[in-house]
Amino acid sequence: MHAFAYRRGELFCEGVPIRRIARRTGTPVYIYSRRTIEDHYKKLVDAFRDVETLVTYSVKSNSNLAILAILARLGAGFDIVSGGELVRVLRVGADPKKIVFAGVGKSEREITEALKVGVGLFTVESEGELALIDQVARRLDRRAQAALRVNPDVDPRTHKYTTTGKRENKFGLDLARARGIFLRAPREHPRVALTGIHAHIGSQITSVKPYRKSLERIVAFHRSLPHPERVTTLDCGGGFGVHYRAEEGISAAAYARQMVPLVRKTGCRLLLEMGRFVVGNAGILVTEVQYVKDSGDKKFVICDAGMHTLIRPALYEAFHKIWPVATKVPIDRVDWTRKSWPRLPKGTERVDVVGPICESADFFAQERPLPSVARGDLLSVFTAGAYGFVMASRYNSHPLPAEVLVEGNRFRVVRRAETYDDLLRGEAM
Ligand code: LLP
Repeated sequence: MHAFAYRRGELFCEGVPIRRIARRTGTPVYIYSRRTIEDHYKKLVDAFRDVETLVTYSVKSNSNLAILAILARLGAGFDIVSGGELVRVLRVGADPKKIVFAGVGKSEREITEALKVGVGLFTVESEGELALIDQVARRLDRRAQAALRVNPDVDPRTHKYTTTGKRENKFGLDLARARGIFLRAPREHPRVALTGIHAHIGSQITSVKPYRKSLERIVAFHRSLPHPERVTTLDCGGGFGVHYRAEEGISAAAYARQMVPLVRKTGCRLLLEMGRFVVGNAGILVTEVQYVKDSGDKKFVICDAGMHTLIRPALYEAFHKIWPVATKVPIDRVDWTRKSWPRLPKGTERVDVVGPICESADFFAQERPLPSVARGDLLSVFTAGAYGFVMASRYNSHPLPAEVLVEGNRFRVVRRAETYDDLLRGEAM
């Protein structure tokens, strides 16, 4: 479900016309729907209610304070990967016990900060990290809770850059090594209670099968430990896919049906570190057409947003639906499940949608059907709520765009657009 819909040819988010927001903030602007975020979070919680579950929202997918605050209010935990993300979740009043600190390269400073506030769980990626957490905990006279990240060697069938649970990936430890660490840890790292197993196999996974396979391996691994009763948490990571094209995503209930029975066998509580599933469809990027240019055999629609605003198409060749914010041509006239459109749908022309950056990778779409547009028209880039703004940069010295949250018939700016002063802050001549 998402709350972006056309009414008589005009795009709305919940009760607010997108054009009204863009007039106020300028473009580019990211626009999020509160109702969609709440709906997706509740669907997850509801689907997994038959086993003790904590959804730890993956902050990296969208870390705006307003969004974190919505989720904190709903009782979510948070999956963080840096000291900066820790500061963000504490700012919105997150319960430290519901924070999971992940990441392959935690610094000593970050470990210290996390231990001081008492985060609920570290996910540990290497023996070196385990030793460091133990050492810092001793210095602070604390005891840390940790889950060991294992690499179940499962192919999630997603983009190679978002695959994490195969043998050759840098994440986690193979099961044989992990077993050795579970055996030695109580003696060698007494300040760390190794009470969990963690496996995150990748992102934008649109099949339940890899989860099942990964969980089967983890459950068997858990059972094979000399003291399985000491392990009380299974953290299955994030990665549930969303609909970028049509309805190819999977419902939370479908994942749960496969996963819950396996988790129940272990008696453990389940952690789910979902990011994209919660916010992906809850956001769009709105950009203004600067020029329409015919060149060679191609038509380019040149926008004020680009790879500096949303890098996913350039980095992963990711697909995002794009459609004018105001148009007579209905968006569902295009069959979005296709990879190419040899015959153009009525009322569209074939264009490349590109940005202003001096790079050939700076495109949002290539050879795409789009109703005819002109300078000043607004385009919506859909499903941009996850890994959108958070991956934006100031490349070519473009200030970062604004972010807006829509709540029913109202909207508010939850991050103002940057100014040129913001751009220069901290620099010296
Ligand atoms: N847990 C761990 C350990 C992770 O590494 C990630 C994502 C998540 C949870 C959340 O995954 P999600 O539920 O959002 O799929 N920038 C890429 C995605 C990178 C994902 C990184 N890790 C993209 O735009 O597709």
